[in-house]
Amino acid sequence: MSQTLTVLGLETSCDETAASVVRLDADGAVEVLSSVIGTQFAQHAPYGGVVPEIAARAHVETIDAVAAQAMQEAGLGYGDLSGVAATAGPGLVGGVMVGLSFGKAVALSRGLPLVAVNHLEGHAVSARLTADIPYPFLLLLVSGGHCQLLAVEGIGACRRLGSTIDDAAGEAFDKIAKSMGLPYPGGPALEKLAEGGDPAAYDLPRALLGRQGFDFSFSGLKTAAARFAATVTTEAQRRDLAAAVQSAIARQLSERTDKAMAAYAAEHAGQALRFVVAGGVAANKTVRAKLQETAAKHGFSFDAPPLAYCTDNAAMIALAGAERLALGISDPLDAVARPRWPLDAEAAASNPTHAFGRKGAKA
Ligand code: KG4
Ligand code: ZN
Repeated sequence: MSQTLTVLGLETSCDETAASVVRLDADGAVEVLSSVIGTQFAQHAPYGGVVPEIAARAHVETIDAVAAQAMQEAGLGYGDLSGVAATAGPGLVGGVMVGLSFGKAVALSRGLPLVAVNHLEGHAVSARLTADIPYPFLLLLVSGGHCQLLAVEGIGACRRLGSTIDDAAGEAFDKIAKSMGLPYPGGPALEKLAEGGDPAAYDLPRALLGRQGFDFSFSGLKTAAARFAATVTTEAQRRDLAAAVQSAIARQLSERTDKAMAAYAAEHAGQALRFVVAGGVAANKTVRAKLQETAAKHGFSFDAPPLAYCTDNAAMIALAGAERLALGISDPLDAVARPRWPLDAEAAASNPTHAFGRKGAKA
């Protein structure tokens, strides 16, 4: 790459309307010039989860203002941009179409290249927004929609090692929190409730323990936790159950990461070993601590993006777009919005447990 790239990123795949301007220098230095996130929590809270139709409408209503604010905070005009990057999937397709269409309009009217970014690739590069983490690295992506272990060899070169066969880790946090009467989003609420609780007070199942590979499963834990939730009466019991759930999720994430690290280290013998955890669940302190221990055990460096870049944001989309542009990659203006779009299409196609159902290859 021989020039500085200044890219507008747009993210509308779930319940945040986000826009950001990121600068990627020729030497690889990254600067986030602005990162604006409009959340829709209040609109979805009465329903206990994200309602796709409401999300799509809210994106339409706010994308103009959010993008204008991102440009203004960056102190730039559209004419200063080198390109536009918009999430093109996977996600709620009504929302994805809003950001992608907005990006296409800016690209067309300003004669700029468009990059249709995979949301997962955004999470994959998110730790590179604030730290110098060269490729390759092992990534655990844990969010409300995704739970997977990926060998990230470079931009556009991710290999999926394992994925959830049912719920994503954040989804498990959210659903169990809901069964305990906690507000949406449940992850942070459950973490708060768990403070001071005894994780050993409830015996929760360990899924897929003896099974080959690096897949995750949270449905058994969800059922067991809901059963216990119906029996708790005191505040102390609720605290204990929250602590037990949090610890069970952290344990499964670290056990699978432990196995993946051993395999990854064997494959990358003689190379620097790096581990990154990204996605909303990476905000959880117990999860982070467990993974940090696991990384230390296998001699991996440990990185997690700051909280603002763990959850959905447009800075990670802008950076993924900038890294693609730096490699000479852009997309045509008829790029489509995709509800499902696995980062590693080969792994998704060859593993039929992930090819069907509500989550399908998305997760
Ligand atoms: O990355 P993200 O904002 O959205 C997706 O792409 O899915 O992740 C949101 C998820 C939610 O399930 C939320 O409950 C979970 O991340 N989460 C947490 C915490 N903060 C967010 N889970 C556990 N502990 C937290 N502190
Ligand atoms: Zn996400």
